[in-house]
Amino acid sequence: MRVLGIETSCDETGVAVFDEDNGLLAHAVYSQVELHSQYGGVVPELASRDHVQKLLPLINQTLVAASTTPGSIDGIAYTAGPGLIGALLVGASLARSLAFALGKPCVGVHHMEGHLLAPMLEEHTPSMPFVALLVSGGHTMLVEVSGLGCYRVLGQTLDDAAGEAFDKTATLLGLSYPGGPALADLARQGTPGRFKLPRPMIRKPGLDFSFSGLKTAVMLAEREETLDTQGRADLAAEFQAAVVDTLSAKCRRAMRQTGVKTLVVAGGVGANRSLRERLTVLATEEGWALFFPRPEFCTDNGAMIAYAGMLRLRAGERIPLIIEARARWGLEDLKPPGLGETVA
Ligand code: KG4
Ligand code: ZN
Repeated sequence: MRVLGIETSCDETGVAVFDEDNGLLAHAVYSQVELHSQYGGVVPELASRDHVQKLLPLINQTLVAASTTPGSIDGIAYTAGPGLIGALLVGASLARSLAFALGKPCVGVHHMEGHLLAPMLEEHTPSMPFVALLVSGGHTMLVEVSGLGCYRVLGQTLDDAAGEAFDKTATLLGLSYPGGPALADLARQGTPGRFKLPRPMIRKPGLDFSFSGLKTAVMLAEREETLDTQGRADLAAEFQAAVVDTLSAKCRRAMRQTGVKTLVVAGGVGANRSLRERLTVLATEEGWALFFPRPEFCTDNGAMIAYAGMLRLRAGERIPLIIEARARWGLEDLKPPGLGETVA
């Protein structure tokens, strides 16, 4: 089965063709970063309009790169939520209409299901059950994955997502949008420990996270003294260390609590080198199998949607002839294929 995947939940237009027998045939991501950078964050209406302009040419380009014609596609998968509703509706409308015109089945994929299955795009893939640490711009959660659509949220952020904390802290430090990668670069030139930031919720029982206090602590530290370049780098390094300490401590707790021996890390913050290094050391110490998608599959992309959609289409799941998307959509509302529609 050959599936066209379409991702438009936020500020990246992603398209991919995944083939059940031959793997990923082609994928392309168009990032709107330049468009939004002058505003310091994503402007939803601009995001929607840009998806309208970029999506169809990107589909054509990706089909050519995959040496595939529209007629040889067996189904279309698109991100149905959660995300920016206008942006989602662009992908939903195009995917549903194209599938109708081609007489092919269509399925709506949960964006976070896409992220947590992204390691399946690699050569060495995790087997279920596994625990997934999903760390993106909109979500931070630990999920026990026992099968496709069988997800138990073990803990999640009570306020800001990890990526959001990276982005907001980057803004405080005068870095340009998108802040996460820029802050990680700055942190590499600094030393953690000169500033003392909290490790939020680390001593509290449970698996929830909270990152908004950390961002405030950075703001206070930054106000207390005028920081030179080295000072900003040291503060960035301490912030990153605090996030990495917190995420890795909660991963260890989740693994011990569930008894699961495989950890998957996905979502944009999963591209962070320091987090990857720390979890690699921890996995060796604790005897876990650890899986990360390559950095380009940690951030938003069409390949993860094509893959998740292929699994659901292959199992017979289809959406009716409606165009629908959800801005909010809990991961635990998902069901295994065959037990319900992905979009209500
Ligand atoms: O998964 P993603 O591409 O989009 C969402 O679904 O949100 O994640 C984007 C988030 C942004 O907050 C971005 O700053 C963060 O991931 N991010 C990083 C890094 N690369 C992306 N944060 C820290 N270090 C990175 N290297
Ligand atoms: Zn994402």
